[in-house]
Amino acid sequence: ALERTFSIIKPDATKRNLTGAIAKKFEDAGLRIVASKRIHLTKAQAGEFYKVHSARPFYDELCEFMASGPIVAQVLEGENAIAKNREVMGATNPADAEAGTIRADFAESVGENSVHGSDAPETAKEEIAYFFSGLELVG
Ligand code: CMP
Repeated sequence: ALERTFSIIKPDATKRNLTGAIAKKFEDAGLRIVASKRIHLTKAQAGEFYKVHSARPFYDELCEFMASGPIVAQVLEGENAIAKNREVMGATNPADAEAGTIRADFAESVGENSVHGSDAPETAKEEIAYFFSGLELVG
């Protein structure tokens, strides 16, 4: 089915000028970027976005990192976009990511792993709504 998923290009990647290289991997996989904005989150905003992880030992470090520089928030649309985006990203830990995936090619560590992508339809919906209004989604 035609789906939408939410993606973040993280601060480690924007800092190294990888926005275009990462967007190209999405587009080459058949995902259409139907919304995109570069923003700099506060630590509180990052904490709200990642609140599902608030009990994890790495939560504070994760929020600090996500507020350490600009991010690019995007909505990707395509057939099975959620699964397809997860394939293109590769495993969370770049050491486990398959060759050619974004994380294998670009990520620096499990924390500074260049991209975030929604893991399921319900989270995709919530995450898109956290960053974008309906008017900003242009299919
Ligand atoms: P993401 O898909 O953005 O969702 C939660 C993030 O937590 C995950 O990607 C990782 O970047 C980060 N994360 C997971 N495990 C660790 C860890 N052990 N140390 C630091 N960050 C982590």
